[in-house]
Order: sequence, then C-alpha cells, then structure tokens
Amino acid sequence: MQTSADHTVHRRRFLTFLAASPLAALSGRAWFGDRVDAAQSSRDVPGGSLITSPAEALNVFDFEPAARRALPAAHFGYLSTGVDDDATLRANREGFSRFQIRPRRLVDVANVNTSVELFGTTWKSPIVLAPAASQKAFHPDGEIAAARAAGAKGHLKILSTGATSAVEDVRSAHGGPIWFQLYPTDTWRITQALVKRAEAAGCPVLVLTVDLPAGRNTETERRFARTDARQCSNCHQLGLAGYVRRKPMFDGLDVTGVNFASPRLTWDVVRRLKDTTTMKLVLKGIETREDAELCVRHGVDGIIVSNHGGRAEESGRSTIECLPEVVDAVQGRIPVLVDGGFRRGTDVFKALALGAKAVCIGRPYLWGLAAFGQPGVARVLEILDREFELMLKHAGVTSLSKLDRSFVVASRRG
Ligand SMILES: Cc1cc2nc3c(=O)[nH]c(=O)nc-3n(C[C@H](O)[C@H](O)[C@H](O)COP(=O)(O)O)c2cc1C
Repeated sequence: MQTSADHTVHRRRFLTFLAASPLAALSGRAWFGDRVDAAQSSRDVPGGSLITSPAEALNVFDFEPAARRALPAAHFGYLSTGVDDDATLRANREGFSRFQIRPRRLVDVANVNTSVELFGTTWKSPIVLAPAASQKAFHPDGEIAAARAAGAKGHLKILSTGATSAVEDVRSAHGGPIWFQLYPTDTWRITQALVKRAEAAGCPVLVLTVDLPAGRNTETERRFARTDARQCSNCHQLGLAGYVRRKPMFDGLDVTGVNFASPRLTWDVVRRLKDTTTMKLVLKGIETREDAELCVRHGVDGIIVSNHGGRAEESGRSTIECLPEVVDAVQGRIPVLVDGGFRRGTDVFKALALGAKAVCIGRPYLWGLAAFGQPGVARVLEILDREFELMLKHAGVTSLSKLDRSFVVASRRG
C-alpha cells in the first residue's frame, strides 16, 4: 500500500530528474508532455520507471518518456509540442473529462465486434494512424514500420504528404488500402501530381488538411531545438529544396518557386480536387458546425474533426468538445472522424458514442515508433484496442453500431 510519505519520495525523485534536465530551463517551466496530470507520469507512481521493451508498457503514456530518451531533443520537440502556450494541446486531453460514461448492465458481452466500415473497406478497429510527416526523424524504418504494425492488426493508416517513405512502399508494407493526406501547395501542377501519384498507388481516399493555411507559431518546439547540441544543417538543408529532398512524394517534381503555405485556399479547392480524382475526399481540420455544413454542401465525402493535435491555431478548444456540433450538422450524411489527445480506450468510447465513426491517433504511435520501431507501434495499438474493448464490455455494448449518445453525459462547465 502506498503511503503519503512514499508518494512524496517518488514525487521528489521525479522533480529531481526534471531539474537535471536541460528542458527544466524552458521558459522557466518544466515540460510535462501532453499528460494533464503530470504527477501521474509513469516514473511518478509505485513501480513506475522508464520502460525498456514494448511489453513493459502498461499504457500508452509509458512510451512518451521512452521516446524522449531515444530521440535528440530537437526531434522530440517536433513530435511533442503544440503552438503558442501549448494550451490547445492540453485542452485536447482535458476535454475528455467533460464527458462521462453511462454503462449498462447485464448484457452478454462475451463477444464484442469492434469492426468499422469506412468507404467500403472494413477495418478490425476504429483506431486509425493519423498522418504525420517525417517519421524517419523518429526511427530509421519510419512510415514503413508504422504501416506494417497497422496493417498486421487491421488498422487504417493515413500517409502524410511530408512522409519520408514513398506511398507505393508504404501501401505494400501495410497490405491494405491506405489513405493519402494532401497538403495543397500554392501551385496546382504540384498538387495535381501528388494527387495522381496517390491515386495510382491505390489510395481510395484523399485527406485534404485545411487547418494550416499560413504556418504556425511553434515556440516550445524551437526551445527544445535550442537545447540540442547538434548542428541541424548537418542533416537538413535549409529551404524548400532541402525539405523535399527527404520527401519521396516530391521525387521528380520541380518545386522551384513553390510555396507550401496556401493562404489563398478557399472552398473552390473541393471542386477542383473532385474534378481531378476519383478518390473520396475527406477534409481534415474541421471544428465548427458552419464548416461541417459547407463540407456537405460542397460534396465532401467525409470529415476529420481536428486541430492538428494542438499544432495549428491556439483555439484553446478540445476536439472532443467540437465533435457534437459537427456530428449534428452533418446528420449522418457523411462519416465524421476525430483526432486530438486520444490516449485511452475510454476516450475512443466517448468519441464513438458522440457520433464519430472512427478516431485517429498521432503522438502515441509516434512515441512507440521512436522508442521501439514497429513493435512499439504494435504495442500502442494493442493497448488501445484492449482498453477500448474492455470499455465496450463494461458498458454492455457488443458492436459499434449500438454505441450512441445514451452512453455518455456531458458535465456542465464551471
Ligand atoms: C509529429 C507530427 C507530425 C504531424 N504531421 C502531420 C501531417 O503531415 N499532416 C497532417 O494532416 N497532420 C499532421 N499531424 C497532425 C496529426 O495528423 C493529428 O491531427 C494529431 O497528431 C492528433 O493529435 P494527437 O497527436 O494528440 O493524437 C502531425 C502531428 C504530429 C504530432
């Protein structure tokens, strides 16, 4: 049994560790990752220590310190941080506590079915790997390792435009129909080439990210980079040419004069993309009922409610709190997915009860990748699948089609 004296000792050890970290100096505050209650870090509980194998992990949070140990400070900073004060990053976690679960009893839950159908393909799990750029910055096997882990366990993967592996290779590593995420450039010739290549590689769905029209203020990431003794220019060439050199989606494309920020983008892009490709079109980064209605009106095929994991604008609003108004606006006409802060099976349960078809995860699988490669990603997925299935059983839900709003209640905000 833990006494308060034990707890104080563990806490003191944890704070001593933090004080020794160069990051304790970050703008006078320690970095606690995106965990809301930092005191519950895996090192701060009895039996808590840095894991040395995926099997040791008891929850997905256990992978964050392991990833931090494995990565150079600049890369860990890129993986972990948000924008401005990281308030939206934290809000994504806090939002889940505003919804509570209403379990039902005495239902035969010996068998539960977690499969979900998205655009004609059935996946074993509603947990999807979100698009994330530059995965070879986390592990030499990068996107290939993540794709193998996802494919083997029946999870969908969405590949980023900024991937450090080619879409054709990731598609075959996964073994199933991965989706392709598009960052539209300001040059239609380039955008069109990216879309055509993804279509030719067999991607059935194009995910257009719309939440970064004009860059972002990545303050904490830059502070992490300052603590990294290595010279970034040893690996990274500066400017656009340097960026695309490591991004196979741009192989053979002349990017002279091309800009990745697309501040002139409007709803016209939906029609242009639909005229260009037979892939289904999903918009990622929708947060309001107004934009959800516009999606339906413009013929968009699906929505991902997202604030880019708190990495776009500092709205301060969690995506789980945005989800109900988007679901209500869409009224079942197109599928709604959501991401941002999903770390527990109960988080997945709440989102699906609120009307999401599936949820995407970002940082948890990247922590697993950084710490242990493919087995790390596989273990993250296994933990989340197991927690989610357990919650379904606790609540008396035998298939996802039976999960509805009667299983959650929203608490009033103080
Ligand atoms: C390191 C990193 C890179 C990302 N790169 C992309 C990207 O290339 N395209 C994109 O649409 N979203 C990108 N995202 C956002 C994720 O797709 C997703 O919205 C977010 O990670 C979900 O929040 P979570 O990390 O709290 O799970 C990235 C996120 C991270 C952490």
